[in-house]
Parts: sequence; C-alpha cells; structure tokens
Amino acid sequence: MTANHELIGRDEINDLEAILSVSNTDVDAVIHTVGANLDAVFTWDYERTRPALGKLYEKAKTSQWNVTTDLDWSTPVDQEALALNEMNREDVKFFGDAVDLAGTPFAKWTEKEWVELAIEGQNWTLSQFMHGEQGALLCTARIVETVPWIDAKYYAATQVVDEARHVEVFAKYLDEKLSGHYPINAHLELLLDDILADSRWDMTYLGMQIMVEGLALAAFGFMHQMTTEPLLKQLLRYVMSDEARHVAFGVLSLQEYYKELSDAEMKERQEFAFEAAVRMRDRFLQQEVWDRMGVSVKDALELVMADEGRKMFQNILFSKIVPNCKKLGLLDRNRGWLRQRFTELGVIQFEDWVDTGEEYAMLDEVAKDRAAAAGA
Ligand SMILES: [Fe+2]
Ligand SMILES: [Fe+2]
Repeated sequence: MTANHELIGRDEINDLEAILSVSNTDVDAVIHTVGANLDAVFTWDYERTRPALGKLYEKAKTSQWNVTTDLDWSTPVDQEALALNEMNREDVKFFGDAVDLAGTPFAKWTEKEWVELAIEGQNWTLSQFMHGEQGALLCTARIVETVPWIDAKYYAATQVVDEARHVEVFAKYLDEKLSGHYPINAHLELLLDDILADSRWDMTYLGMQIMVEGLALAAFGFMHQMTTEPLLKQLLRYVMSDEARHVAFGVLSLQEYYKELSDAEMKERQEFAFEAAVRMRDRFLQQEVWDRMGVSVKDALELVMADEGRKMFQNILFSKIVPNCKKLGLLDRNRGWLRQRFTELGVIQFEDWVDTGEEYAMLDEVAKDRAAAAGA
C-alpha cells in the first residue's frame, strides 16, 4: 500500500508542523510555469454520440452572462461595517463560544483586531477563489486539447470562457470593493501544479472538475448563504450556476471512462483524489492571514483545529466531493481504499448527500433574472 508519506509528504494527516512547512516562498513572482509533456488530440469522429454532454453544451451556450453588464457594480461595499456586523453574529464569528481564549494571543484582542481579522480573512478568501479560478481556466483549456471525444471538446470550450469570466469577476470585486490581494496559498498551488503536470486527460478532470470545483461549489454556497452584501451574493449565485454545470461535466465524462479502468488504474485515481482532498483541507487553514495578523501561525492553528464549529465548516466543504467520488466508483474500488481515507479525514458521512441539484435550480433562477433584466 502506498504510504501517506509518499502521497502527501507526511505520515500523520494532522501533523501541523509538516503542514506549515509548506509555504509560498515566491510571493513576488509574476509568472509561474508548470512543465507538462502531453499530446494534443484530434478526433475525426464528429458524430454526436454523447447526448448528455450535448445537452450540457446547449445549456452552456445560452447561459453565458457578462461580468460588466449583468452585475450592479454601483453597489457600495463597506468592508469594515460588514466585519463589525459579522462579529456579532453567532453563525459567522470566528471562534465558537466553546473555545477558551484565555492565555492565548487572542485574549488581548480588542474589537479592532477582530475586525481586521475578518477583513484580512475576506481578502484572503476571495484572492484564493480568484487563483483557483485561474487554475480552472488553464485546466479546461487543457481538456479541450486532450479529451478524445468531440462532445467533450465542444462543452469544455464553453467552460473555458466561463472560467475566464470567473477570474474576471473575482479580480474586479477584489480591486473595486475589497482592500488587498494575497498571493496563492502554497497548498492550493501544489495541488494545481500536480493537476497540470499530469498528462493523462482524465486526471485533469478528476483534479479540477471533481475535486477543486466540487469544493468550490460548497465554499461558494456557504459564503452565498452567509453574506449580507448584495453584490457578492449576486455574483456568487451567477458563478455557482456555472460551477454546477462544470461538476456535472466531470461526473458525466469520468463515469463513462472509469468503467473501462483496471483496479491498478483506479487505485492511482483514488490516491490522486485523496492527495487533492488533503491539500484542499490544508489550504483552508489560511496560514497567511495569521502571519499578516502578527500571531504565531502554529498557536492560532492549534486553536482553529480544536474548534468543533470550524471543523464542521471545513467538513461541509467536502459535501459535494464525496457523493461524486462515490458515483464514480472511487470510494469502493480496491476494497474501499478511498472510503477508508475519507473516514480518517472525517468526511465520509456525506457519501449519500444529494450532489448538484440545488445549484441547477439556481441556474434557472439566473436565467430568469437575466431575461427579466433584458426585458426591463
Ligand atoms: Fe469557475
Ligand atoms: Fe468551474
């Protein structure tokens, strides 16, 4: 059996020292290059033999929205007022009441520091969304080249423009409404590099469409539900309606392909999914924010990791990924290898959750909104 060490660089999933030893040391670089050796694939079979992908493609063509004209950018955003409001809300404040802060660096914090934490946290989160979206843009452009099916090439081409729009919308929101950018988190970068360095077309799908986009869908959903800022709420709704399609694209494509794979080939996919899951969990520890707040990252994270409320939030992020892995046969092949790993990560309870139905409903709502706006 492949040891944890080989897959994620440490034996213990929760080894905090090891997690923190991964950090972005090249924060001033403007260009980051990932080498890959892959084949660009033509197909001369233009016959439309995959109606489910065809349907998704039709839907994508009529669901294109425009960042500059479909959202109300005149909405004023007062980040500080929103942060103050959050501090007083049980459902979004940083540490739950059960966490004892006595004797920690936080014991001395006043309202000023908590507001700063909320603001930095938001700048950080939206920055990571933006970087992740660029990862999606690159991966999907890659899929257009490497997937051997014409229906998938057509659909993936629509996703490329969706992802460009997502990078654009988060970059614009950060620039115009928030108060600072963060460089990419090292764990997220590791994951995106791994996905892009792999030359097998289905690994791009598994890493991006199933794992990264599955998590993004849950994270956007959570933020959409919690935020009281109308522009952010609206833009997340628009983005989520696209992401639901993207995840469906991954599931549809891989379901067909995985049926043909041997146990040994499936094992490599299971290991890849596990590695991706750990990287994504590590990234949500937002180590760079603690650093900027001037507190010991290790002290802060020990508290964060012991907080039951936050644990629940972090687990919820996997609520879309686990059911989709199950659908693809990844949980149970090879005597339940991935099931066991997801059990250790504490996320197996989501295996039977409904997947992307809710976001599909959103897709129709967004279409109605836009039709109404066009008619007005
Ligand atoms: Fe996206
Ligand atoms: Fe996407």
